[in-house]
Amino acid sequence: MIEARNLPAHVGIIMDGNGRWAQGRGDDRKAGHREGSAAVRRIVRAARRLGLRALTLYAFSEQNWERPEDEVDALMGLLREFLLTERGEILDNGIRLNAVGNLGRLPGIVRAVLDPLRKDSESNGDMTLTLALSYGGREEIAAAAREMAKAVAKGEMRPEDVTADAMHKLMPSLAVGDPDLVIRTGGERRISNFLLYGLAYAELYFADVLWPDFQPADLHAAIESFQARERRFGKVGKPAASNGDAQVIRIAI
Ligand code: IPE
Ligand code: IPE
Ligand code: MG
Repeated sequence: MIEARNLPAHVGIIMDGNGRWAQGRGDDRKAGHREGSAAVRRIVRAARRLGLRALTLYAFSEQNWERPEDEVDALMGLLREFLLTERGEILDNGIRLNAVGNLGRLPGIVRAVLDPLRKDSESNGDMTLTLALSYGGREEIAAAAREMAKAVAKGEMRPEDVTADAMHKLMPSLAVGDPDLVIRTGGERRISNFLLYGLAYAELYFADVLWPDFQPADLHAAIESFQARERRFGKVGKPAASNGDAQVIRIAI
């Protein structure tokens, strides 16, 4: 059972472990990515069913371009296939599909399916599914800084207007709000350039399960862990007994 009231509004997932999943079976890394793509489908469905407002999936980092060409090509092919096969379900289920990152670097075969789906799902409001593609947190921060530097140079902005909030407004990945919960699968305890600016007060959850094996029950376990934590945002915590008799509404999962 998951508490209906205290759901994280925005969940980010670093989907890691595809390569090791395949290698562990004596298979090609590409086979791991294919299975990882099936995991994306079931987790998007599970997130929508739970009623999450935003799900951000780290699908390809700016640094992942440095992988062997055949692996990059396979990932781009799978991305195209995902966007084509899930299009109907995304549109029918009130999901808005968005993408963040250096999208100009993506090949035409991806842009040709990504751009129309972004546009056609624009008015959907139940859940925003953001794909981080050719994405880097540092690159996103640098892009925001560059934009402000240009505005200051043109005299449209004063240096003292360069605030944490002004930076935040220029981060496409945070248009849906800061991530409340960030999950990393695959056993590594690191962030690997994901949503750096928005991570300030995110709750982190590391799962040892490799991404292709990640199930809705694993997502539920991460959310349960989130719900058992007290977020303080630098302030002092609530007295322990304060919500003693509040009625808790739960979602059966
Ligand atoms: C995550 O799995 C997918 C991408 C980064 C695109 P990996 O391919 O990083 O898998 P491991 O970490 O090598 O097992
Ligand atoms: C992070 O995983 C990127 C994605 C999941 C898309 P990596 O496999 O690229 O990260 P490192 O190399 O282990 O830090
Ligand atoms: Mg990895």
